[in-house]
Amino acid sequence: MAPMGIRLSPLGVAVFCILGVGVIYHLYAGVISSRLAAFRQRRKVDLRELLAASVEAAVLGGKEVKRVREENGLKEKSKGKTREGAKELLTRGDLQSHRKMFNLLKNTFPDVTVYSEEQDNTVDKAASWSRDIPADILDKIEGGKFVPADSVTVWIDPLDATQEYTENLVKYVTTMVCVAIDGKPVIGVIHQPFTGFTAWAFVGHGGNVQSRSSYSLNPPNVIVSRSHAGQVKNYIRDAFGNGTTILPAGGAGYKVLSLLKMPPSDSIDLADIYIHITFIKKWDICAGAALLNALGGHMTTLKGEDINYSGDPLNKGGLVASVDVDHKALLERLPNWEPDKH
Ligand SMILES: *[C@@H]1O[C@H](CO)[C@@H](O)[C@H](O)[C@H]1NC(C)=O
Ligand SMILES: *[C@@H]1O[C@H](CO)[C@@H](O)[C@H](O)[C@H]1NC(C)=O
Repeated sequence: MAPMGIRLSPLGVAVFCILGVGVIYHLYAGVISSRLAAFRQRRKVDLRELLAASVEAAVLGGKEVKRVREENGLKEKSKGKTREGAKELLTRGDLQSHRKMFNLLKNTFPDVTVYSEEQDNTVDKAASWSRDIPADILDKIEGGKFVPADSVTVWIDPLDATQEYTENLVKYVTTMVCVAIDGKPVIGVIHQPFTGFTAWAFVGHGGNVQSRSSYSLNPPNVIVSRSHAGQVKNYIRDAFGNGTTILPAGGAGYKVLSLLKMPPSDSIDLADIYIHITFIKKWDICAGAALLNALGGHMTTLKGEDINYSGDPLNKGGLVASVDVDHKALLERLPNWEPDKH
């Protein structure tokens, strides 16, 4: 059977197609080019904007943390236990802070990978960055530092030291944001909701924190996790002698701040080094790593390896952090220890 309809010569088919493409192009050119422009724009992020948005996220998350604590509405429940048997708690403070921080950053920078300690299905499309850049950031950091969005990983800790938060030991509580580029920590923000202080730094460009004028390794004051202080004691005495002062504290964010020069009003412990000998999550430590790197300090595994802040959220190698001491000499004094065998 012959097909029905008009028969076109090959030339006719070609002319018809060209006309068709032309018509479609004229109809949609505006739409296509604006989509392409938006796509190109989205693919890059200005790190000064990401820094300002990270500070805003940490501060707004901190407001939630403080409000829930003051209303006494924690409604804590257990998320299970860590490998070491410590209870992992989740409160309304963690959740409300997560919602603010995660949505603000994800809505403002949709092409960036954002990992948060908490998970939640409540999507708040309205949350976004105010676009205000604080005066001290404008003052110290130049704009226009663009990087490809897909090289960026953002780590959020909406409430560090949840255990201490439930015990009302609020000085240990922080909210944190870290920006890693190709796995390297580059921007760190640690905010203390109960003092209002926000530490921030952008590696190679500046920040608002400084190291103290001196640190000792003979022996050092070592800050360690409050929940495994017993286990770490022998390890530290082996390394630095029985006269070493061990400072048990809550929160990885707090422990990094204890290495720095802090406002005198901030009644923080003063430590020379920070050591952790069990597994720890990257949202707990990435912001601190960036702050220390910005000051010429170091945060490595117990074996001295750099930690890659992309991909897997778990750091299995333990932690040694210092700011103005010989980090290599420090590593040499540490006994052999395999965090995954404990
Ligand atoms: C971190 O790991 C990612 C993925 O494996 C890799 O592309 C990146 O180069 C690593 N970064 C560093 C600083 O080693
Ligand atoms: C340190 O204390 C441990 C246990 O209390 C003891 O076995 C060790 O000999 C002490 N080391 C020194 C150098 O005093």
